[in-house]
Amino acid sequence: MVEQQLNEIIQKMTLNEKIGQLIQLATPFFKGASDKGEITGPMTGMGITDEISQNCGSVLGASGAREVMNIQKAHLEKNRFGIPLLMMADIVHGFKTIFPVPLAMGCSWDLDLAEKSAEIAAKEAAVSGVHVTFAPMVDIVRDPRWGRVMESTGEDPYLNSLFARAFVRGFQGTNLTDDQNRVAACVKHFAAYGAPEGGREYNTVNMSERQLRESYLPPYKAALDEGCEMVMTAFNTVDGIPATGNKKLMRDLLRDEWGFDGVMISDWGAVKELIPHGIAEDSSEAAVKALQAGVDIEMMTTCYVDNLKQLVENGTIEETLIDEAVLRILKLKQKLGLFENPYRGADEKREQEYILSEEHRKAAREAAAKSCVLLKNQSVLPLNRHQKIALIGPFAQNGDILGPWSWQGSYEEAVKMDEGIKMKIDPALLTVAKGCDIETGTENEMNMAINAASEADVIILALGESSAMSGEGGSRANICLPDIQLQLIAEVKKLKKPMAAVLFNGRPLDLHGVIDQADAVLEAWYPGTEGGAAIADLLFGDANPSGRLSMTFPYSVGQVPIYYNHFNTGRPKTSEEYVRYVTHYLDIPNEPLLPFGFGLSYTTFSYTDAMLSADTMNSEQPITLSVSITNTGNVAGEEVVQLYIRDVAGEIVRPVKELKAFKKIMLQPNETKEASFTITEEQLRYHHENLQFTSDAGTFIAFVGRNSQDVSALTFKLVN
Ligand code: BGC
Repeated sequence: MVEQQLNEIIQKMTLNEKIGQLIQLATPFFKGASDKGEITGPMTGMGITDEISQNCGSVLGASGAREVMNIQKAHLEKNRFGIPLLMMADIVHGFKTIFPVPLAMGCSWDLDLAEKSAEIAAKEAAVSGVHVTFAPMVDIVRDPRWGRVMESTGEDPYLNSLFARAFVRGFQGTNLTDDQNRVAACVKHFAAYGAPEGGREYNTVNMSERQLRESYLPPYKAALDEGCEMVMTAFNTVDGIPATGNKKLMRDLLRDEWGFDGVMISDWGAVKELIPHGIAEDSSEAAVKALQAGVDIEMMTTCYVDNLKQLVENGTIEETLIDEAVLRILKLKQKLGLFENPYRGADEKREQEYILSEEHRKAAREAAAKSCVLLKNQSVLPLNRHQKIALIGPFAQNGDILGPWSWQGSYEEAVKMDEGIKMKIDPALLTVAKGCDIETGTENEMNMAINAASEADVIILALGESSAMSGEGGSRANICLPDIQLQLIAEVKKLKKPMAAVLFNGRPLDLHGVIDQADAVLEAWYPGTEGGAAIADLLFGDANPSGRLSMTFPYSVGQVPIYYNHFNTGRPKTSEEYVRYVTHYLDIPNEPLLPFGFGLSYTTFSYTDAMLSADTMNSEQPITLSVSITNTGNVAGEEVVQLYIRDVAGEIVRPVKELKAFKKIMLQPNETKEASFTITEEQLRYHHENLQFTSDAGTFIAFVGRNSQDVSALTFKLVN
């Protein structure tokens, strides 16, 4: 069907039929739905009539081939033009085969892996009838109090942009019409949802346009450059105007400046939320503002269906605005091949074949192993397989390792930690005791754990946050492990035995009471369906940790927001000596506990001979930075070589370091490889006072090394 045919349909549609395309409702509102589907927000008292659901254009959270086909069939029987429903759902890090949460995937620094994970997620979702996923979430995150940091790949605009592209490629493939194993992607949450004040969910975001353009917008843009079909608005304000009613953000920037012509959907209920935000007096005004700002589909509130008809009739809204939105939606339906085959990939037989297949589980296991970050290791790991192990803690046998965005995942299918360990050793060598629950516990449980630990040669603590402690609505002001778990560590520590902690959590934590107590700490995040197996691979040395933090671990919550690419200030702290009038805290260091890019391995790497091919460059003549990396340990390992750059004096203050490139290098023991990076003038550009994206001639410092702090510095000049 060509655009003209779609326009012909639109011309024949009644105004109510057109407005129907602009609402998205959750599964329970549809005939043919068997259960409640995915519910991620409020839905009481919506006043949905049969007419509204019959005219509706898309469904939220329906999945399962049978159910989706039933809903679609019932819908088409009533639809005059045979316009199929779009089925959308949050397939964020896996459908039923759950991959590590995005923050963990960010720590893999492995883009192929990310693409593969999205491809598998798309395949399982597509055969279950899903057409569009509400992913990737690419919000820059600098404040671990915010519960949704686990949904992002981290704090860095460059790294997040690369992951944004990789996820979009994986979800969408190259031809959505023919490749029915793919789904359309919807990048979210536009814009800057990752910067709520105080880390409190849904709170105000306040930042300059420069910071927005410099740090927060690039990942959304990257997703769109990769061909992402849809964009979702954010709940927050941007410069005083809620994103969902922000014309400057969506019409002027997204549509006019960036040329995005795909479908824009509000977040759940965000159109109606323009009322409590305080830019609309009622749902009619909310509808006007959202539509004029560029929102095509209103998710889960009814401002559009309740008001647009009257607003057109009284001349407040031009009908062409509605027609344009409908056309964008129909074009997406057409692109997905839904007019030809409204059931698209939905296929019960293939559901059986693909979902949780061996191949998918294998990929999830690899992803989990590559996403874990070894934070400390004093000669405890890898473990010897012949010693007695006590596995202690609330995550010892817990299936809550899938993460908050795994509504289709099942705890039963998850490989728990004890199961993973039993795959590696004689089960008689393993004793398991919970010690406490995540936030509470009894003396008896604690005593049982201490007894178990006292019999063992080595203790593994499985600790963390329940998945409900992060994710949407999961902000925390205290980002330590719950007290009861800190108490458990302190008690077990008294036994003076080797002790390794494995952590399951959705945010960088304040690790005091953990990292100072345990001899080794492995950050496992929420590793997904194969979590226990992957962790056992790492604990026993069948895999070597290669993850590197994509988000800073603060020294304490008092430092947040904290990120490596900050400004220097006019009074930087340059020595350990106490000087009052420099930027510092009286009671804690400026440095984070663990910096961006940090992660250990079971081997060690030395960096030598870092050099530049020349000490000046220009836009025609880039320079090359090279460095030799040697594996100086006894086992093969993968290093993530990181290149950062600082512009020493710009027109606008430049960050102390910015990640510009990285390379993952596999090295056998004693092997040396050279990593080289081309530095181009383009990489030195930034937004100037007039918001032009250009570079400044002058001095730059290139930093190369193993993380954002441990680097060698080389100076060069950019000349005109
Ligand atoms: C979340 C979105 C999600 C949507 C639909 C909202 O509450 O903020 O990220 O895609 O629900 O489930």
